Amino acid sequence: MKENDWFIGWFDSKYYHILYKNRDNSEAKAFIRKLTKNINLAENSSVLDLGCGKGRHSIELSKIYKNVIGIDLSSQSINEAKKTTSHGLSFSVQDMREFKLNHKVDGIFNLFTSFGYFSSIDDNLKVLKQCYTNLNEKGLLIIDFFNANKVKNELIKNEVKTIDEISFYIKRTIIDQRVVKTIQFKDNNQPYSYIESVQLLTLKDFTYLFSKSNFKLINTFGDYNLDTYNPNHSNRLILIAKKT
Ligand SMILES: C[S@@+](CC[C@H](N)C(=O)[O-])C[C@H]1O[C@@H](n2cnc3c(N)ncnc32)[C@H](O)[C@@H]1O
Repeated sequence: MKENDWFIGWFDSKYYHILYKNRDNSEAKAFIRKLTKNINLAENSSVLDLGCGKGRHSIELSKIYKNVIGIDLSSQSINEAKKTTSHGLSFSVQDMREFKLNHKVDGIFNLFTSFGYFSSIDDNLKVLKQCYTNLNEKGLLIIDFFNANKVKNELIKNEVKTIDEISFYIKRTIIDQRVVKTIQFKDNNQPYSYIESVQLLTLKDFTYLFSKSNFKLINTFGDYNLDTYNPNHSNRLILIAKKT
């Protein structure tokens, strides 16, 4: 593991799931219902949840589409995801930079900031090119990312969150166009320290990446209610792109 591959250990630890436990199935259910109505993919579609975690969105997607595949690098998360069985739903441990599917899909969902982790910017393009290869003609790519402008302008530098009797001490800084979050805590008197380091990708950056990977941006939204994206105020940057 490279020292800067922070996403391998952190997302595979139980503490990631404790810290983000409020981002739960009910949030996923409401968002997927709205989103899928908007994008209008046929019910007999096959779709991929790329960076699916424990599968909270995959499970909702499987209530709508015929075939749903969830992939994630974290084996712990995929083991959890596999506990939900549903017709046409499957999960596997794979890296989003080089995943392989048995068949092409009609839509790829990359949700809740599951992009922009890698130290090499070229890896963003690797992910998008893999998406292109694995999508059917005119297939859709949906990326739900944070609004980098807002993250930067309203950076909460220090925060303490106590969840399940663990106090997480969180520090955020901007370094080299990334938001770097240091997360420190003790559990059973044992000290832990993790980082999250995510590229501050803007709408302009995504438009550039799409142009380099043969995707056309067709719509954007600014939150899980699918309100209009506003670069200064929106919480999210949700991008809908089509394979050209
Ligand atoms: C912020 S979490 C979101 C998980 C899920 N989409 C959700 O909303 O619950 C990001 C996910 O991306 C996964 N991930 C990180 N790097 C990855 C990679 N190279 N390939 C596949 N998945 C990766 C992590 O393991 C983690 O589950």
